[in-house]
Amino acid sequence: SQVTALIVAAGSGSRMGGDLPKQYRLLAGKPVLRRAVEALIEHPRIDAVRVVIGIGQHSLAADALDGLKVGELIVGGAERADSVRAGLEAIGADIVLIHDAARPFCPPEVIDRLLDAVGTADGAVPVLPVADTLAKGDQELRGTVSRTQMLRVQTPQAYHAEDLLYAMDEAGKSADTDESTVLQNAGLRVATVTGDEMLHKLTSARDWERAEMMLGGQMV
Ligand code: CTP
Ligand code: MG
Repeated sequence: SQVTALIVAAGSGSRMGGDLPKQYRLLAGKPVLRRAVEALIEHPRIDAVRVVIGIGQHSLAADALDGLKVGELIVGGAERADSVRAGLEAIGADIVLIHDAARPFCPPEVIDRLLDAVGTADGAVPVLPVADTLAKGDQELRGTVSRTQMLRVQTPQAYHAEDLLYAMDEAGKSADTDESTVLQNAGLRVATVTGDEMLHKLTSARDWERAEMMLGGQMV
């Protein structure tokens, strides 16, 4: 079946700050979006990679993706779910891997695990356990939550494109969570596979510093 990776890059990166949305900034010499695309485009089981960008970001994206085969850029929407839907409607895939542009490193083994798992489930997502204590609270703690049943959910996430569109229709305007939630709410089964710390999302300035350190600071 046809596997298309859909990279959503239409966000504004407000928590990261800076002059440019984080996906277009150079991380150790290379745009984050370019890193995310390269990691998927090289995988032998992915047939096509498409990118969803924000309004007015065509030239930024074209520069970042120069020379990479991503087809026509797709324009996203105000919420992440709007961007995912715009992407789904623009592609004609059987299996879709939805991936955040803000996750520049994707080990190929994770993709293999996802594509294996989605063969027998409606969706498959990479997860990792929680290491820290999880608690409710504000200025003081208001109860600890058992972490043993909690998971951190990453991307890429693998779905049957038709199932995902169906689930998003069921969710209607309330689709403001990630796709795995939308699928579960529609009564579909989402399998888990082992994620990877490399898939950590760049959200804050601190995440950026850590990623640059990991890459050796000056590497191009
Ligand atoms: N995204 C998108 N369309 C939106 C919002 C987010 O395509 N309307 C994408 C982002 O570009 C990012 C991914 O979804 O690759 C994960 O979102 P997040 O880390 O929250 O990025 P931003 O929304 O850009 O950042 P922030 O929430 O801090 O503004
Ligand atoms: Mg966001």
